[in-house]
Amino acid sequence: MRLSLYRHHKILRALLLFAFALTCVVFAGHVEPVLGNTDGVTSIFRPLSQPAQEIKELSVLVLAICGSIFIVVAGLLVYAIVRFRHRAGDELSEPPQVYGSNQIELAWTVLPLLIVFVLILVTSRTIADIQNRKPTPTAVQATVIGHQWWWEIRYPELGIVTANELHVPASDGHGSRPTFLKLQSADVAHSFWVPLLSGKTDLIPNRENLMWIEPTKPGTYPGNCAEYCGTQHARMLIRVVVHPPDEFERWAREQQQSASIETTAAEGRRVFFANSCVNCHTIRGTSAQGTFGPDLTHLMSRQTLAAGAASNSPDNLRLWVRDPQKIKVGCLMPNMQLTDNEVDQVVAYLQTLK
Ligand code: CUA
Repeated sequence: MRLSLYRHHKILRALLLFAFALTCVVFAGHVEPVLGNTDGVTSIFRPLSQPAQEIKELSVLVLAICGSIFIVVAGLLVYAIVRFRHRAGDELSEPPQVYGSNQIELAWTVLPLLIVFVLILVTSRTIADIQNRKPTPTAVQATVIGHQWWWEIRYPELGIVTANELHVPASDGHGSRPTFLKLQSADVAHSFWVPLLSGKTDLIPNRENLMWIEPTKPGTYPGNCAEYCGTQHARMLIRVVVHPPDEFERWAREQQQSASIETTAAEGRRVFFANSCVNCHTIRGTSAQGTFGPDLTHLMSRQTLAAGAASNSPDNLRLWVRDPQKIKVGCLMPNMQLTDNEVDQVVAYLQTLK
């Protein structure tokens, strides 16, 4: 009785462990929506771009091979347990022992070798395919720099600097137009991961890593930093906005403009430039040339604030300017101690940065 209870415990523990592992697999690659970003759910199992597609195909093949091995081994195990279990009246002697059977030894040496060899071949082919891809003349080149806790995005050839949203053209029927990324870090190690588009690649200080994507379907693709980089690692979200080719050109032209100077928010403008905001932020076409924080030239063209921590609404912007720590604890933007009136004025000015 005691023994069977112990055995039940063990089975229960094994089942719980299995359920936990299954849950991990099912939720792998999901990004939790943050503050109303309901489109923030993604999955590694429905890629919409190279190289994610190629990586998924390889993973499915590896999963199939390993799954088959699991089924064969587990099947034999279950068969042996059921068929040869202890029955009343069995003599309690050892079963016949087999030593030095050439056939058995050969089988369990050669078969795994062949399987591992196949896995090495398919994996190396995929890695080589992805790493050897060279930029075409039409390819978009961008540099992504990881910061605690936001993404700086530069297009050196287009003269654009933005943050947290990587805009790229879709490759449609008219031709392939991939985007090649140079990945750098300004402080600690981060990792760029947009599961629907590609695998992860680290951003490492004093080093440049390369990756490329080639999405075919316009849309917004969420991703996040996949390397623990400090307190707000979980709120270091990246969005890749994929445009139809002509729409991408329009976006690029708009981003190349200097900041619009409007007379409507003169007071807020004065407050902004009288405070240390200008030491960290750039607004092109003005004296604000700081590079420690995100470029704000076209702040209003972005969907989110604080690297995806909040949607870019007037209320959230007010909350952010009043006290960034309320939205993102530990973030490097300080509370500027502005009065309610000044907050409203600065927000009004920021809203002119379209
Ligand atoms: Cu950056 Cu985690």
